[in-house]
This record gives sequence, structure tokens and C-alpha cells, in this order.
Amino acid sequence: MKTRTVNKVIRGKRVTDGAGVRLVRSLGTEGLAHLDPFLMLDEFRSDTPGDYIAGFPDHPHRGFETVTYMLAGLMEHADNHGNSGILRGGGIQWMTAGRGIIHSEMPKQKDGLIWGFQLWINLPATDKMMPPRYQNIEPEDVPEVKRADGAVVRVIAGEADGATGPVRGIVTSPLYLDVTLPPGGVYEHELPQSHSAFAYLFQGSANMADTEVEQTALTAFSDDGAGVRITAGPKGARFLLLAAKKLNEPVARYGPFVMNTRDELQQAFEDYRAGNF
Ligand code: CO
Repeated sequence: MKTRTVNKVIRGKRVTDGAGVRLVRSLGTEGLAHLDPFLMLDEFRSDTPGDYIAGFPDHPHRGFETVTYMLAGLMEHADNHGNSGILRGGGIQWMTAGRGIIHSEMPKQKDGLIWGFQLWINLPATDKMMPPRYQNIEPEDVPEVKRADGAVVRVIAGEADGATGPVRGIVTSPLYLDVTLPPGGVYEHELPQSHSAFAYLFQGSANMADTEVEQTALTAFSDDGAGVRITAGPKGARFLLLAAKKLNEPVARYGPFVMNTRDELQQAFEDYRAGNF
């Protein structure tokens, strides 16, 4: 397998979002605005309630998907269509905002560790105005493959190591893996030519293709090979590996709305103000 080279490595940046949640944003910063079809990646990780307790009160989304993957803690979700639920460590919520929802994402705990990720994935023009849809996946429904070489792979979406992720029917055919490698462990994964790919390292260190990276580094791969190759450093590595089909469409983005044109953005604002979400 000819492996993909590294296009860019960006370091996560500390930002505050929602009503005052401290998080580390990698994708979606000036370092890398987006990697078609991926729009944003945040990691929130703190055992200090002041960093997270304010949560993300009511806010709208239109035109894309938000994916929340929790490693620890509890997050309560509720929207203006009457949907609600609690995400636990190891669980996933894949929300297709489509034509619009207004929701809140609030920590359901007063202390202790909360740790997770939120990823934004774009929708093609044909699906931006689809009805909102959720896939809520419980931790025990995520296949966890323990390989003979010590690697542990949680398969959230797509196929890897003989397992298929529980998230189905997503238009960009995503791969979403949570991979833990022992010291010196190697992970290779084949990808279709149509897919963009990146890895976000959140524990240990690793060599991505030929580039050494540390914690909170997001490595965007080039489209020049059949797959990716990642080697763990001396203390092992844990990373998210993401890939999805490129849309090759114009992106008009403002805050929680991601459309194709400025007119569509304007319409999103008007619909939101008019209470049509
Ligand atoms: Co949201």
C-alpha cells in the first residue's frame, strides 16, 4: 500500500465557546479552516467544573452534521423538536441538523472529569435542507476490536479490523475510529481515493507518515496514497482517525450555519429569526 503523506499538521488551540466552555479547537481555526467535508473539531477535557459547567445553552444549526463522542462524563441534550437524551462515556450522538434545529448541550454533572469531542461534518447541497435526524449510540453498541499486537480499535462509523461501526446511512460515507496503540505499535488503514483523512492525537505521541506529532496535533493527510500509516511513540498513542468523501462544493459559513451561498446563509438567519427552525 502506498501511504498518504502529510499535508499539514496543526496544533490545537485553546478557545472558549458556548456559555464559557474551555476547549481545544484544531480543525476550524486559522491553522486549517476546513478539510472538505470536515468543518471543525473540538476536544473538551477538564475535571474543573468552571471549565465546562456553563455548557452550550440553546443555539441553532443548519446545513451540516454535529458528532459528539464522549470519553468520560455525562452530557444532556435537548432540542426544540422534543428530542432529548444523555450521552455517557463511550457513547456517540450523530446529529444531522439538516434544515434546522435549536438545541442545548449541557453537562449533567456538577464535578468530576468530562472529556469528549465534537466534530462538524458538512452536508452536500442536496441534503442541507433534509429533516433533522439523530443516531444515538450507547457505549456498549460500539464494537471494540482488541488486536493480537495490543492495538484497541473502537469503530464508530465505517469498517475497520473486521468490525462495522453502528452509525449508518451518512451521505459522506465516513470512517470514524478511536485507536489506541501500544508503544511502537503500527496502524495502517486503506481509504478510498474520494476521501479526505485526518488523525487527531490526544494521548501519547506518534509518527504520522513521516512526521512526529504530540498531543492535540491534528494531522491532515494528502490525497496521494491508498491509505494511512501511523506509528505510536515510546509511550503509546491514542488518536481519532477520520475520513469522509469530499463534497467539492462552495462553503458559505457563518457561526452555526453552513450553506453553499451567502443568500442561503441570509435565508438561514431569516428562518431562524422567524421561528421556522
Ligand atoms: Co450544537
